[in-house]
Amino acid sequence: MKKSSLLFTTELPRPADLGEELLLIHDEILPRKSKTFKKWMAQFPLRYPVKAGESLKSVQNFPEHITKIVKLCEGASSRRLTVVVAGGGSVGDFGGFVASILKRGVRLVHMPSTWLSAIDSAHGGKTALNVGSAKNQIGTFYPADKIVLSRSLLMAQPNARAFEGFGELLKIALIAGGPLWRDLSKDTK
Ligand SMILES: NC(=O)c1ccc[n+]([C@@H]2O[C@H](COP(=O)([O-])OP(=O)(O)OC[C@H]3O[C@@H](n4cnc5c(N)ncnc54)[C@H](O)[C@@H]3O)[C@@H](O)[C@H]2O)c1
Repeated sequence: MKKSSLLFTTELPRPADLGEELLLIHDEILPRKSKTFKKWMAQFPLRYPVKAGESLKSVQNFPEHITKIVKLCEGASSRRLTVVVAGGGSVGDFGGFVASILKRGVRLVHMPSTWLSAIDSAHGGKTALNVGSAKNQIGTFYPADKIVLSRSLLMAQPNARAFEGFGELLKIALIAGGPLWRDLSKDTK
């Protein structure tokens, strides 16, 4: 399986550094939460805003989404197209799945916007859709070419969400053990 490169940035990255032809799939909440994001996303000629949540991942709604996305990307070349996904875990699962099947698979960049997605779901390449009330029943393994952890994007979240992310981080550290667990348990004492 291909290895994703990981980029830590303070600001949002230059679109030209993400790929040649770009489709931005983003949580529609982001331009409302961040003026910087709103200005940044205007640089992408191909944009597909989505409402985050489990209904985005519903297989029933997928045909409508993919029909619109295919039309949007009509003129784009499969060799040059990169799907850039900005959002939390639900947008990442959806966008990753889209990238894995669009034009038989195109480049993928994940830009997680929640702590859960930054710590967990953007890594490892799992994409997923829900079937009825059964979560994550279909999907693909499709690791991103690049994962961009942008401080500017992550800091747009309300503080309360950091606690959820911290819970996830503790779980990962507990399972992994070693220096991560040692450092975290030292910091929480
Ligand atoms: N693929 C994997 O390996 C993996 C692993 C764990 C979880 N998941 C999936 O991740 C999903 C949960 O992830 P999540 O909690 O990130 O959910 P989410 O994408 O539904 O986001 C949660 C909420 O935060 C909002 N939001 C996102 N970014 C924001 C920001 N910067 N500022 C303010 N609000 C913001 C969203 O609009 C939404 O209302 C589930 O669907 C789960 O199945 C996938």
